[in-house]
Amino acid sequence: MHKPKTLGIGIIGGGFIARFHIKSWVGVRDADILGVFDPDAKRAREACALVRSLNCGEAKPFKSIAAMAADPAIGALWICAPNYTRTEVMEEIAQAVASGRAELIGVTCEKPLGRNVREAKKMLALVQKAGLLDGYLENQVFSPAVTRGKEIVWARGAAIAGPPYLARAAEEHSGPHMPWFWEGTLQGGGVLNDMMCHSVEEARFMLTPPGAPRDALTPVSVTAYTNCLKWQEPKYAALLSKRSGGKTDYLKRPAEDFARSLVEYKDRGGKIVVVETTTSWCYVGAGLRLSMELLGPEYALQINTLDAGLKVFFSREVKGKAGEDLVEKQNAEIGLMPVVADEATEYGYIAENRHMVQSFLKGVRPEENFSDGVGVTELLMAAYLSAEQGKTITFPPKGLDAYVPAVARGKWNPKNK
Ligand SMILES: NC(=O)c1ccc[n+]([C@@H]2O[C@H](COP(=O)([O-])OP(=O)(O)OC[C@H]3O[C@@H](n4cnc5c(N)ncnc54)[C@H](O)[C@@H]3O)[C@@H](O)[C@H]2O)c1
Repeated sequence: MHKPKTLGIGIIGGGFIARFHIKSWVGVRDADILGVFDPDAKRAREACALVRSLNCGEAKPFKSIAAMAADPAIGALWICAPNYTRTEVMEEIAQAVASGRAELIGVTCEKPLGRNVREAKKMLALVQKAGLLDGYLENQVFSPAVTRGKEIVWARGAAIAGPPYLARAAEEHSGPHMPWFWEGTLQGGGVLNDMMCHSVEEARFMLTPPGAPRDALTPVSVTAYTNCLKWQEPKYAALLSKRSGGKTDYLKRPAEDFARSLVEYKDRGGKIVVVETTTSWCYVGAGLRLSMELLGPEYALQINTLDAGLKVFFSREVKGKAGEDLVEKQNAEIGLMPVVADEATEYGYIAENRHMVQSFLKGVRPEENFSDGVGVTELLMAAYLSAEQGKTITFPPKGLDAYVPAVARGKWNPKNK
């Protein structure tokens, strides 16, 4: 009898993004989530309980990454731990494989691949040395609106009127949910590192002809701007300090809460195409807003995730408790509000995880992989360099591998300019 092949997945880090991946698993075939490792045992137990409640695998908590990797039922690991643990996590996986204790097919890693180019390249080197397939978890390039929109625009508009020349991408919300994201040294920067990683990659993907490799477009220059518009104000700095038990100090060590960039690319014919991004942690609307555009000579595509088909209205008499049940990073519970009905689908997590699983089962490298993660990190670091120097950076600038932005060294403060 034909025995179906099911990939066993282990998740490293059982926090916010792990929950998104777990919820997405109801739409991912041929793989079960069998384990979670989190140094916070309660988090691991809760994540496993969520997996089981959704019938997405017999997940159990593991005591270490090495133990989870060594379980013969587990064939691939999803890295969902904080940015500051990236290289140590990957080293532990590589070590488990090198010692012969773990037999794995592949590893995927959440954005960003590293806090700087050196870390991102180390991740790539480690995964390749271990002989594992690698997937870079950039969900936006799997979002149905993005993939379907790209398909239609290129098949109809670009085929007749010529290729697109401008892609815009913005990701905005009111600020991250955990204190470590706000610390430049731990996270790698502020909103530029945290969210522009999505925008630059999604916009590059839109501008790249369907099926063409990453090098169909070559970055030629990066111009960026960063500032701390909201969270450095004493009232808001005090709020961050309170939320972090006194650790986060945005009066002394702020990170940027607003960042924009303009990336010029050259296509294979030498023509310039442009990516324009905006990201912020100081957008107070209904919740997370992703907006994207793709513009060409006779056409335009637009996406705004808060233009949801579903809206609800609650009068002032409905005084419910604060929640995140309508949309990610929700800011209100009263009035007319958009609802993103199926966030795991719409933000791209289901298609992303299906692609990773199917690639691993076929033994091929996922289309979005650690090399893309390195490419994104290079662009982000060039953006920091541009913002610090107040000028356009010709790409790639000298010394990019060793560069660590001032904000990631705890040395950035726009008020000292
Ligand atoms: N794709 C997206 O849109 C998206 C959204 C949010 C977060 N992320 C990324 O996912 C990663 C995790 O973010 P989050 O929001 O889930 O953070 P989180 O703080 O909510 O959760 C992180 C979890 O990792 C655990 N952890 C800490 N050290 C660990 C280690 N050494 N090994 C394993 N687990 C460890 C923590 O206890 C915590 O439970 C980050 O890199 C972040 O950038 C991506």
